[in-house]
This record gives sequence, structure tokens and C-alpha cells, in this order.
Amino acid sequence: MVRKPASAPLFGVIERLQGDLPWGSLLDAGTGVKSALWASGLATERWTGVTADSGHHAETQAALGKALRPQDRLIAGNWTDPALLAGEVHDTVLAEYLLGAVEGFAPYFQESLFARLRPLVGGRLYVVGLDPYLAGRAEDEAGRMVQAIGCFRDGCSLLAGETPYREFPAEWVLDRLRQAGFQILSAQRFSNRYPMEWVELQLATSRTLLARIADRDLARALLAQALRLRQEATALIGRQGPMACGSDYVVSAA
Ligand SMILES: C[S@@+](CC[C@H](N)C(=O)[O-])C[C@H]1O[C@@H](n2cnc3c(N)ncnc32)[C@H](O)[C@@H]1O
Repeated sequence: MVRKPASAPLFGVIERLQGDLPWGSLLDAGTGVKSALWASGLATERWTGVTADSGHHAETQAALGKALRPQDRLIAGNWTDPALLAGEVHDTVLAEYLLGAVEGFAPYFQESLFARLRPLVGGRLYVVGLDPYLAGRAEDEAGRMVQAIGCFRDGCSLLAGETPYREFPAEWVLDRLRQAGFQILSAQRFSNRYPMEWVELQLATSRTLLARIADRDLARALLAQALRLRQEATALIGRQGPMACGSDYVVSAA
């Protein structure tokens, strides 16, 4: 699989892959503010967004506002429900960072996700995902810092009773897509660079989670660790710029 430099906006990659093909009816199988707003700017005949999360549902609805046309639908549902969109076929299906989030809503369902989506795909399926970056020891300082912050955030999630994302590599996705009867049209990796804004967002999320931990001594110790990570990341990014670590991927299939 070809690895390309970071910073290519991945929605732009999908638009280039789509070329002149009409978007037709577009199903955003794991919707959220970013993908819904992007899709609202495309010439679709109809847009359907699905989320398993009531918070995402409310945020997406608010962000779309009047951009949600009469023929569009924003649905709260879970792909484990066989009745969800049963019998429907969509010209274009988007699974943008859906796979990594499944762990929180349907653990162990990842193996079946693409087979579940298969009958809904009339034309193209686009899968956007993140290669796992927390497993193994990173080779350089930037990678180790990104891992430390990611592990810290996920640890806070677990302590607060939430399930962190579980990411899967692009090769795993390609295998499962083929098993589900898809033909792979293209697969590309895009190297990631994590700026200070990413650090701030992970640590802000962690602080929100820590507020829910009953053991306040533990929470205080972890808040102090958040401060240390922030200082270390600030110094590293000051020296090297945004931290290079791992890749996102875009797969198109039919
Ligand atoms: C990372 S988030 C959203 C990313 C989104 N494309 C965006 O632009 O913000 C992943 C989405 O997948 C949804 N999701 C995860 N597992 C799901 C499942 N089993 N059934 C339906 N939706 C699911 C979540 O509810 C959430 O809306």
C-alpha cells in the first residue's frame, strides 16, 4: 500500500476517487458533525446519516440545521439491529472512522461490520480509518509521546467507565472487505502529524473523564500527569513541529 504525506484532507481524497461518478443516495454509516457537514456540500440526491450515539445525533442535527433537506434522514440506530435500513440500497456508503468507534457500541461486531453494510452498498463504499498506534513501542520520541498521550486518554476513559476506540489496520480492513464480497478499488495510507491542538483536545477530554472518577486522590495524581504530558509535548513540538506518528487510510471498494 502506497504511503502518502500527511495533511491531505481525506474528504478531498474521497472526492477525487469519486471523480465524475454521481453521489446519488449517500449513506453516512457512522455520522458525526464533520462527515455530515462535508456531505451536505455534495450534490447528493438524498443523505442518510446513522449514529449509535445520542450525543452525536444531537450535535450533528444542530450542526446541520437547515442543511438537512426534507429527503435527508439522521437516524439513531445500531448496525447490530438487523432491521436498521433493511432492504435499502445506497449509491455511496461512507464509513468514516466508524470501525474504530464500534467497540463502544457493539464490541466484537467489528468482524461482521462490512458484511452487514454489503447489501446497503449499490455503488461505492469508502472506508476511512486509523492504523492502531498504541500497540508496540514507537521508534522515536514523537511516536512515544503520541502513544503516551493516547494511552493516558484511553486509561482515563476506562477509569471513567467508558470504552476507548479500538482501531484496526488497513490490511485487516482489506481482508474483511474481500470476505464480505467487496472488490477493492484503491487503498492509500496518509502519514499523520499531531499538532499541539491534538494534544490539548486529548488532555481536555481526559480532564472531563477524570471529573467522573470517584477516587479523587487517583484523579488528582492523573491530573498532575496530564500537566506533565502537556509540558513535555509543548517542548517537543516546539523543537520538532507536529509529532509524526502512524497513518490514516482510505479504502474504496465496490
Ligand atoms: C468517530 S465517530 C464519527 C465520525 C464522523 N464520521 C464525523 O465526521 O464526526 C463514529 C460514529 O460511528 C457510530 N457508530 C459506532 N458504532 C456503531 C454501531 N455499531 N452502529 C451505528 N453507529 C455506530 C458512532 O455512534 C459515531 O456516530
